Order: sequence, then structure tokens, then C-alpha cells
Amino acid sequence: MIVLGFESSCDETSVSVTKDGQCVLSNVVLSQIDIHKAFGGVVPEIASREHVKGITVVLDQAMKEAGVRANDIDLVAVTQGPGLIGSLLTGINAAKAFAYANDIPIVGVHHIAGHIYANQIEQDLQFPLICLVVSGGHTELLYMKEHYHFEKLGETQDDAVGEAYDKVARVLGLGYPGGPIIDRLAVSGKATYKMPKVETKRAYDFSYSGLKSHVINTLNTLKMKGETIRKADMVRSFQEAAIEQLIEKSILAVDKHQAKMFVVAGGVAANSHLRKRVYEEFKDVVVSMPAMQYCTDNAAMMGIAGFYQYQRFGLESSMSLNGDSRLPLK
Ligand code: KG4
Ligand code: ZN
Repeated sequence: MIVLGFESSCDETSVSVTKDGQCVLSNVVLSQIDIHKAFGGVVPEIASREHVKGITVVLDQAMKEAGVRANDIDLVAVTQGPGLIGSLLTGINAAKAFAYANDIPIVGVHHIAGHIYANQIEQDLQFPLICLVVSGGHTELLYMKEHYHFEKLGETQDDAVGEAYDKVARVLGLGYPGGPIIDRLAVSGKATYKMPKVETKRAYDFSYSGLKSHVINTLNTLKMKGETIRKADMVRSFQEAAIEQLIEKSILAVDKHQAKMFVVAGGVAANSHLRKRVYEEFKDVVVSMPAMQYCTDNAAMMGIAGFYQYQRFGLESSMSLNGDSRLPLK
């Protein structure tokens, strides 16, 4: 089965061609990062307009690279939500137009299901598994007993971990997006700044606003005292605290649920310190983290997730498919 995938939930315009829920024939990603950089974050209005400008070019290139024509496509899969509504609608309208014009079935796919299924590109998911979702908008632990069955064990009570990275980078004047910049700078730093230990009421929940505020307050105090800020040490200290919280809760979830596999999904899965810590800590289960190009937003992961969604639920979406900026994962 050949799936044409569309992703446009935030600031990447992407179209893919994937085969049988594993093989990536093409995955074209047009990033808007350089445009949003000047504003220190994604500007929704600009993102929508850039998606409109880019979507048909990206579609043509994805089809060409995969060497397929419209009549080779069996299913269209598009990110339905969550995300920026204007951005989502551009991808959805393009996908619907393509599906309608070529009489191909279409499914709307949850963005986080896509991030999880990015792992299926490298190796088959093994169940039961525990998945740690870490992106700009999500920090959660999921239990999956089989394909396309998501049970949420816990989630952040405030900020997402990626959001905390972006905010800390911004207050330190490091640029956007903060995650990769902090990741690189932290290598040359030492964890010499004390960070608070985070407590949550429930074992599998997370919290990042306290850590973020602590960094901001420390910076303000240092500035007021006229002391120098050792940026590399600061981000190293922040990063170690941020990642340890993810590791601790994940260990607990994997042990309690006798998981066969531990999966990491979302943009923060690209973090070098997280990847190192996961390999160090999870020795008794199969570990899966997406290849770097499939960690951040891309359409290949949406096409793969769409394939498995279609296998499990058949055709639940149609031409009435609409974007949902707060779509829950079911
Ligand atoms: O999954 P994603 O591409 O978009 C969302 O669905 O949110 O994740 C983007 C997030 C941003 O917050 C970005 O700073 C973070 O992932 N990120 C990283 C790294 N690369 C991207 N965070 C830490 N370390 C990285 N290497
Ligand atoms: Zn994402």
C-alpha cells in the first residue's frame, strides 16, 4: 500500500511517499525556521502563508523523488491536529484536493501518533511498549498494548520539555529553536548551577515550569549583582535536570508495565544527552529512537501512522475532514 503523507501542523511543510507502513520512498521537508528566527518563535500568520507558498512545490518534489504518479497512491494521510489551525488547514486542504481529484481515500492522523510511528521506520514496534513523547507541545508517557492503541499514563502539568528548552534559550539570548542550540552549547559546560528537584502529585506526570522559572530567576539575580553568567554551565545544568526527570519517570513506567520496548518520540528525541541517557539506563528492553531526520516534524511519520490507523480503524475520515488544533490522541 502506497501512502501520500502531508504534515503542516507548525513550521515545516512536508509531503512524503511511504510504502507498507515502513519504507520511506520520499520525505521532502521545507523548514520555515530561518523565517521565524527573526521573531524568536513561530508566528502563526506567517507560518500559514509560507505553507500555502510551499505545499504544491513540496508535493511535486515528493512524488518525483519517489517516482510515483497519482494513480499509484492508495491512501492519503494528513495531520489533522493538534497544531496551529491555519497551518493545519493548508495541509488538510491540499490533501483533500489531491484525494478528491484522484478519487483516493483520505485519513486524518494525530500528530503525536506520527511522532510515535517515526520509530516504525527503523524497526518493528514490539508490544507492550512504553512511549515517552517529548516535543515542543507535548511531554507524556503512553502505554501501547498493540498497534494504534494509546493509553496515556501521565503528562506535563504545565510546560512541555521542548517549550522549556526554547524559553531558556530565549532568556539567555541564544536564538531559536532553543533545543538544538542548548544541546550543542551544553557539551562545553559543567552542571555547576543548582537546579530544583521537581515533585508531581502523580508518578507519571511531569512539570517544567518550575525549572524554567528557576533558570530565569537565577539569571535575574546574577544580572542584578553584576556577576557574569556562564551560559554553557547554565544550559548544561538545566539540560541535566530536564532530562533526568524524563529518565526517572520512564524507568518507573517501563518497570511497572513489563514493557518489551521503550520508545522515544518527538523533536526532543533528537537531544544527544537524552539519547545517551536512554542507552545507559534501558538495557533490559529493546530501545527505539527515531533517526535524526525523523525526530522533528516530517510527513513520512504521518504516512506511516496513517497506514497503521487505516489497518486498525479503516476509513474514518472523508471529505468532511477538518483541522482540530486540540485533537485528543485516541
Ligand atoms: O516535534 P517537534 O518538531 O514539534 C512539535 O510537535 O512540537 O519538536 C520541536 C521541539 C522544539 O521545542 C525544539 O526546541 C525541540 O523539539 N528540539 C530539541 C532538539 N531538537 C529539537 N530539544 C532538545 N534537544 C534537541 N537536540
Ligand atoms: Zn511535532
